[in-house]
Amino acid sequence: MRTRRLSAGRQQDVAEAARLLLAGGLVAFPTETVYGLGALALDGLAARGIFAAKGRPRNNPLIVHVPSAAEARGLVAAWPEVAERLARAFWPGPLTLVLPRAPHVPDEVTAGGGTVAVRAPGHPAAQALLHAVGAPLAAPSANRSEHVSPTSAEHALKDLDGRIDAVLDGGPCAVGIESTVLALAPGGPRLLRPGAVSREALAALVGPVALGSPPHAGPAALPSPGMLARHYAPAAVVRLAPAALVAEEARALLAGPGRPSVGALLCGDGVPVPAGAHGLRLPRDPSGYARALYAALRDLEDLGCSALVVEEVPGDGAWEAVRDRLSRAAG
Ligand code: TXA
Ligand code: MG
Repeated sequence: MRTRRLSAGRQQDVAEAARLLLAGGLVAFPTETVYGLGALALDGLAARGIFAAKGRPRNNPLIVHVPSAAEARGLVAAWPEVAERLARAFWPGPLTLVLPRAPHVPDEVTAGGGTVAVRAPGHPAAQALLHAVGAPLAAPSANRSEHVSPTSAEHALKDLDGRIDAVLDGGPCAVGIESTVLALAPGGPRLLRPGAVSREALAALVGPVALGSPPHAGPAALPSPGMLARHYAPAAVVRLAPAALVAEEARALLAGPGRPSVGALLCGDGVPVPAGAHGLRLPRDPSGYARALYAALRDLEDLGCSALVVEEVPGDGAWEAVRDRLSRAAG
């Protein structure tokens, strides 16, 4: 399959992307978090193509993208007041809500479970595409399964060129890590994946937010395979180290079996690049860090680094989502 490159800035390209999707095709498109791999959400066959293109296990459910809360209501069994409050505060934006599904949402999308994840993305190109299609789009991150999520059209192409119909290029993503996933479970809201909408911001609106799946949820009820340890992993071995131990950890990796090429991902400019390592610095503010993180991991991978030392980031709430992705990358 030839993968077409389309530009989000050209109206006729957005229309072409919509046409490909309406014909049952697969199109990667920008959102404010990461690029998504879109297919018609209410067409089980189209949605199935996503799993094949990504090499994604069938038991990992997909997020359904809609322009606004009005369309989300049509995909769920009930739209509680708390969902309305959250949507008013954070949509369009980087928040995904998990709710009991409506019966017509295909099993391919929900992985056979009783819930569906819905989100209204804020990126203007995602909004334009959703309006042009006129139907909800299932879209996981547009990477090969297990790889780092793409934050540019180039990243999406690197993983999926030849496997999907088109990529709609809307430039780099502003947020840079995946949306916050919040399950509106009967026992109270639960954070299934931290993201740009912080737990504090959610709690201010809905009260205390527990972390992780409820106990006894069972594999089909609320699996969030994004919570699995290795989900956001680059191909390299990743070690987290406090600032004072970055140099020592780099030395240990450099001297390790096979003498790997070592990358060092630093937070701000307090720590010197360890001798013999490829150093990359990310900004010491949580949004700037998140925006640049996945591109940095891909760059170090492209430089041939098979081992990475990552300087630990601060421990406060504003860094929760970044800490989550780093600890998953480290396994
Ligand atoms: O920012 C994002 O959320 C991006 C953009 C493209 O919107 N999408 C994304 O999709 O990160 P994906 O598939 O890579 O991650 C979706 C996460 C997974 O951890 C999945 O298991 C979880 O959401 N999820 C989806 N549906 C669910 C459901 N019904 N119940 C629990 N978790 C669900
Ligand atoms: Mg993903």
